[in-house]
Amino acid sequence: MTIVTCVAPVNMAVIKYWGKRNEDLILPLNDSISATFNVEYMRAKTTVMASPTFKENKIWLNGKEESFENPRLLHCMKELKQRAQKGNDVINWNIHVCSENNFPTAAGLASSAAGYACFVYAVAQLYAVEGDITGIARKGSGSACRSISGGWVQWHMGHLNDGSDSIATQFASVSHWTEMRILTLVVNDNRKKYSSTVGMRRSTATSSFLKHRADSVVTERVLNIIKAIKEKDFKTFAEITMRDSNQFHAICLDTFPPFMYLNSVSMTIIELIHAYNDFYGTPKVAYTFDAGPNACLFLLEADVPEVVALIQHIFPSDVAPVEYFKGIPVHHQN
Ligand code: ADP
Ligand code: DP6
Repeated sequence: MTIVTCVAPVNMAVIKYWGKRNEDLILPLNDSISATFNVEYMRAKTTVMASPTFKENKIWLNGKEESFENPRLLHCMKELKQRAQKGNDVINWNIHVCSENNFPTAAGLASSAAGYACFVYAVAQLYAVEGDITGIARKGSGSACRSISGGWVQWHMGHLNDGSDSIATQFASVSHWTEMRILTLVVNDNRKKYSSTVGMRRSTATSSFLKHRADSVVTERVLNIIKAIKEKDFKTFAEITMRDSNQFHAICLDTFPPFMYLNSVSMTIIELIHAYNDFYGTPKVAYTFDAGPNACLFLLEADVPEVVALIQHIFPSDVAPVEYFKGIPVHHQN
């Protein structure tokens, strides 16, 4: 028997991926940019066992057995086998996979990103796959390709029909902006009503605003936010991050029929952050929201105590953001 265990953190997009140009290959309509969390905070942990005695492939997620007949899982497996070292017996053995997340699954906190990155990385170790594996992780879940590297990552949408140039690369390392922190405010950890996959399919089909965003907005934003990150220009970084989150949620409303991931607590957080930034006359905190009501706040280390105190003061414990994590992005470990 051969066993590999890996951990992979979630990543948080500051320029969002929303919309596919090819559903089967998971090719996005635009580039996206993210920060990978510190693996100690929000992460998937996956053990893959291969044995010639296993009769079939099996997977358990958070202690519950799930079907292995999941097209995305099978797609990743097919590609991993094609890229495996020839003559490696393990490829012909069935595998048993156990994975657990140390944070809510399917609640808009990017469990699919950490989960598929971890799964693909672990099987790639088992099969001794060499070279880029972000394109394989992408076929599990688009955003998973950004959790293979640590630090600041760009997922290039690519232009080739086969998707071979749609990969993620790191453009600034973990140690580049060490003062940066991420607070995750868990407003609601229920499973979301519309998965990202379903939501973006509907937006792609019905939102003209999404088309405008992909054609005319994102390219410039990507260039500007990469520059801001490289120059540690928090003001520009914060403004682009908040605008991009707001544009993504506006597209959800422009979708027909519309849907909303933000709730009234999320809206209060948005108003609070703007009031706080206005008080200082400069952005001190940037919010961003994925496909759920939970906020991610980017801020500098020196401002963490005051912002945490403010949040704890404004939101009584039962309706409040209940958890926060400091995240210095690092890449995952074996
Ligand atoms: P989220 O917002 O948390 O990413 P999604 O609904 O987009 O939620 O994705 C959740 C799905 O991702 C799960 O139903 C499962 O298929 C997959 N997933 C989540 N965590 C893991 C994991 N640790 N290992 C393998 N797959 C996972
Ligand atoms: C709002 O990567 O979960 O979090 O590719 O269909 O699995 P699929 O979607 P997924 O979508 C993530 C959407 C987002 C924005 C982002 O992470 O860029």
